[in-house]
Amino acid sequence: MENLLKLEPNPSLLSNQTLPVVNSYNEWDPLKEVIVGRVEGAAVPHLEPALLTNSYPNNLGFFQKYAGQPFPQELVEIAAKELNDFCHILEAFGVTVRRPDIIDFSKTYKTLDFEASGFYAAMPRDVLIVVGNEIIEAPMAWRSRFFEYRAYRSLMLEYFRRGAKWTTAPKPSMSDEFYDFEFAQKPVEERYALTKKGHFVIRDTEPSFDAADIVRFGRDLFVQRSHVTNNIGITWLKRHLGDTFRVHVVNFPDYNPMHIDASLVPLRPGLALINPARPCLEKELFKKAGWDLVDAAPSTLPDNWPMYMCSSWVCMNILSLDPETIVVEKQEEPMQKLLKDLGFKVIPVDLRHLYTFGGSFHCVTCDVRREGKLEEYGF
Ligand code: NVA
Repeated sequence: MENLLKLEPNPSLLSNQTLPVVNSYNEWDPLKEVIVGRVEGAAVPHLEPALLTNSYPNNLGFFQKYAGQPFPQELVEIAAKELNDFCHILEAFGVTVRRPDIIDFSKTYKTLDFEASGFYAAMPRDVLIVVGNEIIEAPMAWRSRFFEYRAYRSLMLEYFRRGAKWTTAPKPSMSDEFYDFEFAQKPVEERYALTKKGHFVIRDTEPSFDAADIVRFGRDLFVQRSHVTNNIGITWLKRHLGDTFRVHVVNFPDYNPMHIDASLVPLRPGLALINPARPCLEKELFKKAGWDLVDAAPSTLPDNWPMYMCSSWVCMNILSLDPETIVVEKQEEPMQKLLKDLGFKVIPVDLRHLYTFGGSFHCVTCDVRREGKLEEYGF
Protein backbone atom coordinates (compact mmCIF):
# COMPACT_ATOMS: atom_id res chain seq x y z
CA MET A 1 0.00 0.00 0.00
CA GLU A 2 2.90 2.38 0.60
CA ASN A 3 3.48 2.91 -3.11
CA LEU A 4 -0.24 3.63 -3.60
CA LEU A 5 -0.34 6.31 -0.95
CA LYS A 6 2.69 7.99 -2.44
CA LEU A 7 0.95 8.24 -5.79
CA GLU A 8 -2.39 9.51 -4.53
CA PRO A 9 -3.18 12.98 -5.96
CA ASN A 10 -3.44 15.83 -3.51
CA PRO A 11 -6.80 17.57 -4.21
CA SER A 12 -5.89 20.76 -2.33
CA LEU A 13 -2.95 21.36 -4.66
CA LEU A 14 -4.95 20.57 -7.76
CA SER A 15 -7.96 22.74 -6.96
CA ASN A 16 -5.92 25.87 -7.68
CA GLN A 17 -4.89 24.70 -11.13
CA THR A 18 -6.85 25.28 -14.30
CA LEU A 19 -7.89 21.88 -15.60
CA PRO A 20 -8.26 21.08 -19.30
CA VAL A 21 -11.94 21.14 -20.39
CA VAL A 22 -11.85 17.35 -20.65
CA ASN A 23 -9.78 15.72 -17.90
CA SER A 24 -10.47 12.42 -16.17
CA TYR A 25 -8.09 9.57 -15.45
CA ASN A 26 -9.96 7.37 -13.01
CA GLU A 27 -13.35 6.76 -11.40
CA TRP A 28 -12.77 8.49 -8.04
CA ASP A 29 -10.90 11.82 -8.29
CA PRO A 30 -12.95 14.94 -7.30
CA LEU A 31 -15.73 15.39 -9.85
CA LYS A 32 -16.10 18.80 -11.52
CA GLU A 33 -18.24 18.25 -14.65
CA VAL A 34 -20.43 15.36 -15.69
CA ILE A 35 -22.87 14.45 -18.45
CA VAL A 36 -26.09 12.94 -17.09
CA GLY A 37 -28.25 10.98 -19.53
CA ARG A 38 -31.93 11.47 -20.37
CA VAL A 39 -34.85 9.09 -20.81
CA GLU A 40 -36.96 11.62 -22.72
CA GLY A 41 -37.25 10.38 -26.31
CA ALA A 42 -36.30 6.79 -25.34
CA ALA A 43 -37.65 4.04 -27.58
CA VAL A 44 -37.84 0.28 -27.21
CA PRO A 45 -35.49 -1.35 -29.72
CA HIS A 46 -36.42 -4.19 -32.04
CA LEU A 47 -35.19 -7.61 -30.93
CA GLU A 48 -31.90 -7.53 -32.82
CA PRO A 49 -29.33 -10.32 -32.16
CA ALA A 50 -27.17 -8.43 -29.65
CA LEU A 51 -30.20 -7.26 -27.65
CA LEU A 52 -31.75 -10.71 -27.69
CA THR A 53 -28.55 -12.03 -26.15
CA ASN A 54 -28.42 -9.38 -23.44
CA SER A 55 -32.01 -9.49 -22.30
CA TYR A 56 -33.70 -12.20 -20.28
CA PRO A 57 -36.31 -14.62 -21.72
CA ASN A 58 -39.07 -13.29 -19.44
CA ASN A 59 -38.71 -9.85 -21.09
CA LEU A 60 -39.39 -10.97 -24.64
CA GLY A 61 -43.07 -10.05 -24.32
CA PHE A 62 -42.17 -6.45 -23.45
CA PHE A 63 -39.93 -6.09 -26.50
CA GLN A 64 -42.44 -7.78 -28.79
CA LYS A 65 -45.18 -5.44 -27.58
CA TYR A 66 -43.28 -2.14 -27.71
CA ALA A 67 -40.49 -2.66 -30.31
CA GLY A 68 -39.98 0.51 -32.33
CA GLN A 69 -42.27 2.57 -30.09
CA PRO A 70 -41.47 5.11 -27.38
CA PHE A 71 -40.88 3.64 -23.92
CA PRO A 72 -44.17 3.64 -21.94
CA GLN A 73 -44.78 7.23 -20.85
CA GLU A 74 -45.30 6.41 -17.15
CA LEU A 75 -41.85 4.75 -17.01
CA VAL A 76 -40.23 7.72 -18.75
CA GLU A 77 -41.85 10.29 -16.46
CA ILE A 78 -40.82 8.72 -13.19
CA ALA A 79 -37.25 7.94 -14.34
CA ALA A 80 -36.86 11.44 -15.82
CA LYS A 81 -37.82 12.92 -12.45
CA GLU A 82 -35.27 10.74 -10.68
CA LEU A 83 -32.58 11.88 -13.12
CA ASN A 84 -33.51 15.56 -12.74
CA ASP A 85 -33.39 15.29 -8.96
CA PHE A 86 -30.01 13.53 -9.20
CA CYS A 87 -28.73 16.43 -11.34
CA HIS A 88 -29.80 18.96 -8.69
CA ILE A 89 -28.01 16.96 -6.00
CA LEU A 90 -24.81 16.90 -8.09
CA GLU A 91 -25.11 20.67 -8.60
CA ALA A 92 -25.52 21.16 -4.85
CA PHE A 93 -22.13 19.43 -4.52
CA GLY A 94 -20.61 21.97 -6.91
CA VAL A 95 -20.56 19.69 -9.97
CA THR A 96 -21.38 21.19 -13.39
CA VAL A 97 -24.08 19.01 -14.98
CA ARG A 98 -24.56 18.74 -18.74
CA ARG A 99 -27.35 16.88 -20.54
CA PRO A 100 -27.59 15.34 -24.03
CA ASP A 101 -30.03 16.68 -26.64
CA ILE A 102 -33.53 15.22 -26.67
CA ILE A 103 -33.97 13.02 -29.74
CA ASP A 104 -36.96 10.97 -30.82
CA PHE A 105 -35.30 7.56 -30.88
CA SER A 106 -38.40 5.84 -32.25
CA LYS A 107 -37.56 7.21 -35.74
CA THR A 108 -36.43 4.52 -38.16
CA TYR A 109 -33.26 4.82 -40.21
CA LYS A 110 -31.61 2.88 -42.98
CA THR A 111 -27.87 2.55 -43.58
CA LEU A 112 -26.16 0.68 -46.43
CA ASP A 113 -26.35 -2.48 -44.32
CA PHE A 114 -29.45 -2.49 -42.14
CA GLU A 115 -32.64 -0.77 -41.06
CA ALA A 116 -33.47 -0.05 -37.40
CA SER A 117 -35.01 2.36 -34.94
CA GLY A 118 -33.12 3.80 -31.99
CA PHE A 119 -32.89 3.36 -28.22
CA TYR A 120 -32.02 6.26 -25.92
CA ALA A 121 -29.46 8.72 -24.58
CA ALA A 122 -29.93 7.55 -21.01
CA MET A 123 -26.51 5.96 -20.55
CA PRO A 124 -23.66 8.25 -21.65
CA ARG A 125 -21.21 5.81 -20.00
CA ASP A 126 -21.97 3.28 -22.76
CA VAL A 127 -21.04 5.55 -25.62
CA LEU A 128 -18.48 8.02 -24.21
CA ILE A 129 -15.22 7.54 -22.36
CA VAL A 130 -12.76 10.17 -21.20
CA VAL A 131 -9.20 8.94 -21.06
CA GLY A 132 -7.04 11.78 -19.77
CA ASN A 133 -7.68 14.84 -21.90
CA GLU A 134 -9.38 12.93 -24.72
CA ILE A 135 -13.07 12.09 -25.12
CA ILE A 136 -13.75 9.03 -27.26
CA GLU A 137 -17.07 8.05 -28.85
CA ALA A 138 -17.28 4.25 -28.71
CA PRO A 139 -18.19 2.24 -31.85
CA MET A 140 -21.20 0.47 -30.17
CA ALA A 141 -22.56 -2.89 -31.35
CA TRP A 142 -26.36 -2.65 -31.34
CA ARG A 143 -28.03 -1.47 -34.49
CA SER A 144 -30.45 0.49 -32.35
CA ARG A 145 -27.49 2.38 -30.92
CA PHE A 146 -25.76 3.22 -34.22
CA PHE A 147 -26.77 6.89 -34.07
CA GLU A 148 -26.84 7.30 -30.29
CA TYR A 149 -23.79 9.60 -30.45
CA ARG A 150 -25.98 12.20 -32.15
CA ALA A 151 -27.56 13.14 -28.82
CA TYR A 152 -24.11 14.17 -27.54
CA ARG A 153 -22.85 15.95 -30.65
CA SER A 154 -23.66 19.50 -29.52
CA LEU A 155 -21.76 18.83 -26.31
CA MET A 156 -18.83 17.25 -28.19
CA LEU A 157 -18.67 20.24 -30.54
CA GLU A 158 -18.67 22.60 -27.60
CA TYR A 159 -15.90 20.70 -25.83
CA PHE A 160 -13.94 20.56 -29.09
CA ARG A 161 -14.27 24.30 -29.63
CA ARG A 162 -13.04 24.81 -26.08
CA GLY A 163 -9.89 22.79 -26.84
CA ALA A 164 -10.77 19.15 -26.10
CA LYS A 165 -9.22 16.26 -27.97
CA TRP A 166 -12.23 14.49 -29.51
CA THR A 167 -12.09 11.10 -31.22
CA THR A 168 -14.72 8.89 -32.78
CA ALA A 169 -13.62 5.27 -32.87
CA PRO A 170 -14.47 3.52 -36.18
CA LYS A 171 -18.02 2.19 -36.15
CA PRO A 172 -18.70 -1.35 -37.36
CA SER A 173 -20.98 -1.57 -40.39
CA MET A 174 -23.32 -3.74 -38.26
CA SER A 175 -24.00 -5.75 -41.39
CA ASP A 176 -25.36 -9.30 -41.02
CA GLU A 177 -21.81 -10.70 -41.11
CA PHE A 178 -20.98 -8.84 -37.90
CA TYR A 179 -23.44 -10.94 -35.85
CA ASP A 180 -23.78 -14.63 -35.13
CA PHE A 181 -27.54 -14.89 -35.66
CA GLU A 182 -27.58 -18.59 -34.69
CA PHE A 183 -25.93 -17.79 -31.36
CA ALA A 184 -28.68 -15.31 -30.50
CA GLN A 185 -31.40 -17.89 -31.21
CA LYS A 186 -29.93 -20.60 -28.97
CA PRO A 187 -31.48 -21.37 -25.56
CA VAL A 188 -29.94 -19.42 -22.69
CA GLU A 189 -28.00 -22.41 -21.27
CA GLU A 190 -26.35 -23.08 -24.63
CA ARG A 191 -25.45 -19.42 -25.02
CA TYR A 192 -23.91 -19.38 -21.55
CA ALA A 193 -21.88 -22.50 -22.31
CA LEU A 194 -20.59 -20.93 -25.54
CA THR A 195 -19.76 -17.63 -23.82
CA LYS A 196 -17.79 -19.56 -21.22
CA LYS A 197 -15.70 -20.86 -24.11
CA GLY A 198 -15.10 -17.32 -25.40
CA HIS A 199 -17.84 -17.21 -28.04
CA PHE A 200 -19.94 -14.05 -28.27
CA VAL A 201 -22.83 -12.77 -30.38
CA ILE A 202 -20.64 -10.29 -32.26
CA ARG A 203 -17.83 -11.52 -34.49
CA ASP A 204 -14.31 -10.16 -34.81
CA THR A 205 -14.90 -8.86 -38.33
CA GLU A 206 -14.73 -5.15 -37.38
CA PRO A 207 -13.67 -3.33 -34.20
CA SER A 208 -16.35 -2.81 -31.62
CA PHE A 209 -16.53 -1.82 -27.97
CA ASP A 210 -18.94 -0.06 -25.67
CA ALA A 211 -17.21 2.48 -23.44
CA ALA A 212 -18.86 0.87 -20.39
CA ASP A 213 -16.80 -2.29 -20.88
CA ILE A 214 -13.77 -0.26 -19.76
CA VAL A 215 -12.90 0.89 -16.25
CA ARG A 216 -10.15 3.42 -15.55
CA PHE A 217 -7.44 3.15 -12.88
CA GLY A 218 -5.12 5.97 -14.06
CA ARG A 219 -2.44 4.60 -16.39
CA ASP A 220 -4.12 1.18 -16.27
CA LEU A 221 -7.44 0.48 -17.92
CA PHE A 222 -9.32 -2.80 -17.55
CA VAL A 223 -11.62 -4.05 -20.28
CA GLN A 224 -13.83 -7.12 -20.65
CA ARG A 225 -14.76 -9.08 -23.76
CA SER A 226 -18.52 -9.08 -24.04
CA HIS A 227 -21.46 -9.29 -26.40
CA VAL A 228 -20.63 -5.72 -27.48
CA THR A 229 -16.81 -5.62 -27.15
CA ASN A 230 -14.68 -7.82 -29.39
CA ASN A 231 -10.96 -8.62 -29.59
CA ILE A 232 -10.34 -6.35 -32.54
CA GLY A 233 -12.11 -3.51 -30.69
CA ILE A 234 -9.74 -4.01 -27.75
CA THR A 235 -6.80 -4.02 -30.19
CA TRP A 236 -8.03 -0.69 -31.60
CA LEU A 237 -8.19 0.75 -28.09
CA LYS A 238 -4.71 -0.50 -27.16
CA ARG A 239 -3.17 0.84 -30.35
CA HIS A 240 -5.00 4.14 -30.08
CA LEU A 241 -4.00 4.80 -26.46
CA GLY A 242 -0.40 3.82 -27.22
CA ASP A 243 2.29 3.72 -24.56
CA THR A 244 0.74 6.27 -22.22
CA PHE A 245 -1.92 3.81 -21.02
CA ARG A 246 -1.94 0.05 -20.45
CA VAL A 247 -5.09 -1.83 -21.42
CA HIS A 248 -5.59 -5.16 -19.59
CA VAL A 249 -8.26 -7.69 -20.46
CA VAL A 250 -10.04 -9.07 -17.39
CA ASN A 251 -12.59 -11.86 -17.17
CA PHE A 252 -15.59 -12.62 -15.02
CA PRO A 253 -17.83 -15.68 -14.85
CA ASP A 254 -20.61 -13.55 -16.37
CA TYR A 255 -22.19 -15.47 -19.22
CA ASN A 256 -24.33 -12.54 -20.28
CA PRO A 257 -21.50 -10.01 -20.35
CA MET A 258 -22.23 -6.44 -21.30
CA HIS A 259 -20.58 -3.59 -19.37
CA ILE A 260 -18.02 -4.00 -16.63
CA ASP A 261 -19.45 -1.50 -14.13
CA ALA A 262 -21.49 -4.01 -12.15
CA SER A 263 -18.50 -6.37 -11.93
CA LEU A 264 -15.45 -4.26 -11.04
CA VAL A 265 -15.84 -0.81 -9.47
CA PRO A 266 -12.82 1.04 -8.03
CA LEU A 267 -13.64 3.27 -5.06
CA ARG A 268 -10.32 4.89 -4.16
CA PRO A 269 -6.63 3.99 -4.66
CA GLY A 270 -6.17 0.47 -3.32
CA LEU A 271 -9.86 -0.43 -2.93
CA ALA A 272 -12.38 -1.80 -5.41
CA LEU A 273 -15.77 -3.50 -5.28
CA ILE A 274 -16.21 -6.80 -7.06
CA ASN A 275 -19.36 -8.77 -7.73
CA PRO A 276 -19.59 -11.93 -5.55
CA ALA A 277 -21.85 -13.55 -8.15
CA ARG A 278 -19.14 -13.18 -10.83
CA PRO A 279 -15.80 -12.68 -9.07
CA CYS A 280 -12.96 -11.39 -11.21
CA LEU A 281 -10.75 -14.23 -12.48
CA GLU A 282 -7.65 -12.03 -12.23
CA LYS A 283 -7.88 -11.23 -8.50
CA GLU A 284 -4.18 -11.99 -8.15
CA LEU A 285 -3.27 -9.12 -10.47
CA PHE A 286 -5.04 -6.69 -8.13
CA LYS A 287 -3.65 -8.25 -4.96
CA LYS A 288 -0.11 -8.03 -6.32
CA ALA A 289 -0.70 -4.35 -7.07
CA GLY A 290 -1.75 -3.78 -3.45
CA TRP A 291 -5.51 -3.52 -4.09
CA ASP A 292 -8.16 -4.90 -1.76
CA LEU A 293 -11.19 -6.34 -3.56
CA VAL A 294 -14.37 -6.22 -1.50
CA ASP A 295 -17.59 -8.09 -2.33
CA ALA A 296 -20.48 -5.76 -3.15
CA ALA A 297 -23.66 -6.20 -1.10
CA PRO A 298 -26.66 -7.62 -2.97
CA SER A 299 -29.54 -5.42 -4.06
CA THR A 300 -32.75 -4.94 -2.06
CA LEU A 301 -34.75 -4.80 -5.30
CA PRO A 302 -37.89 -6.99 -5.28
CA ASP A 303 -37.73 -9.96 -7.67
CA ASN A 304 -40.69 -8.70 -9.66
CA TRP A 305 -39.15 -5.27 -10.42
CA PRO A 306 -39.11 -4.81 -14.24
CA MET A 307 -35.48 -5.10 -15.39
CA TYR A 308 -35.36 -5.15 -19.20
CA MET A 309 -31.66 -4.59 -19.77
CA CYS A 310 -29.58 -5.48 -16.72
CA SER A 311 -29.37 -7.37 -13.45
CA SER A 312 -30.06 -6.03 -9.95
CA TRP A 313 -26.26 -5.90 -9.44
CA VAL A 314 -26.53 -2.34 -10.69
CA CYS A 315 -26.75 -1.66 -6.93
CA MET A 316 -22.91 -1.53 -7.14
CA ASN A 317 -23.02 0.86 -10.11
CA ILE A 318 -22.21 3.85 -7.90
CA LEU A 319 -20.77 7.28 -8.73
CA SER A 320 -17.83 8.67 -6.76
CA LEU A 321 -17.90 12.42 -6.16
CA ASP A 322 -14.38 12.20 -4.73
CA PRO A 323 -12.27 9.49 -3.03
CA GLU A 324 -14.37 9.83 0.14
CA THR A 325 -17.91 10.50 -1.14
CA ILE A 326 -20.13 8.10 -3.08
CA VAL A 327 -23.66 8.35 -4.49
CA VAL A 328 -25.64 5.15 -3.79
CA GLU A 329 -29.26 4.29 -4.56
CA LYS A 330 -31.51 5.30 -1.67
CA GLN A 331 -33.06 1.89 -1.01
CA GLU A 332 -29.83 -0.08 -1.29
CA GLU A 333 -29.20 -0.01 2.47
CA PRO A 334 -26.78 -3.00 2.53
CA MET A 335 -24.56 -1.30 -0.11
CA GLN A 336 -24.74 1.95 1.86
CA LYS A 337 -23.73 0.20 5.08
CA LEU A 338 -20.85 -1.61 3.37
CA LEU A 339 -19.47 1.65 2.00
CA LYS A 340 -19.92 3.50 5.31
CA ASP A 341 -18.07 0.67 7.08
CA LEU A 342 -15.26 1.15 4.55
CA GLY A 343 -15.05 4.80 5.63
CA PHE A 344 -17.01 6.54 2.85
CA LYS A 345 -19.53 9.33 3.14
CA VAL A 346 -22.64 8.00 1.37
CA ILE A 347 -25.13 10.22 -0.49
CA PRO A 348 -28.39 8.23 -0.88
CA VAL A 349 -30.32 9.21 -4.02
CA ASP A 350 -33.51 7.71 -5.55
CA LEU A 351 -32.86 6.03 -8.91
CA ARG A 352 -34.73 2.75 -8.71
CA HIS A 353 -37.08 3.42 -11.61
CA LEU A 354 -34.11 4.19 -13.80
CA TYR A 355 -32.83 0.64 -13.16
CA THR A 356 -35.64 -0.49 -15.45
CA PHE A 357 -33.88 1.29 -18.34
CA GLY A 358 -30.68 -0.69 -17.71
CA GLY A 359 -28.36 1.07 -15.30
CA SER A 360 -27.64 3.20 -12.29
CA PHE A 361 -25.44 6.17 -11.34
CA HIS A 362 -22.27 5.11 -13.16
CA CYS A 363 -24.13 4.12 -16.33
CA VAL A 364 -26.17 7.33 -16.49
CA THR A 365 -23.09 9.55 -16.26
CA CYS A 366 -19.87 10.31 -18.09
CA ASP A 367 -17.38 12.25 -16.02
CA VAL A 368 -15.95 14.88 -18.34
CA ARG A 369 -13.73 16.56 -15.80
CA ARG A 370 -12.28 15.39 -12.55
CA GLU A 371 -9.38 16.95 -10.70
CA GLY A 372 -6.22 14.89 -10.85
CA LYS A 373 -3.65 13.82 -13.37
CA LEU A 374 -2.13 10.69 -14.82
CA GLU A 375 -1.01 8.44 -11.98
CA GLU A 376 -0.04 4.82 -11.49
CA TYR A 377 -1.79 2.82 -8.82
CA GLY A 378 0.53 -0.11 -8.25
CA PHE A 379 -0.01 -2.16 -11.44
N1 NVA B 1 -24.75 -6.27 -17.69
C1 NVA B 1 -24.35 -6.08 -16.31
C2 NVA B 1 -23.90 -4.66 -16.04
C3 NVA B 1 -24.92 -3.60 -16.03
C4 NVA B 1 -24.39 -2.22 -15.73
C5 NVA B 1 -25.47 -6.53 -15.40
O1 NVA B 1 -26.60 -6.63 -15.86
O2 NVA B 1 -25.22 -6.79 -14.23
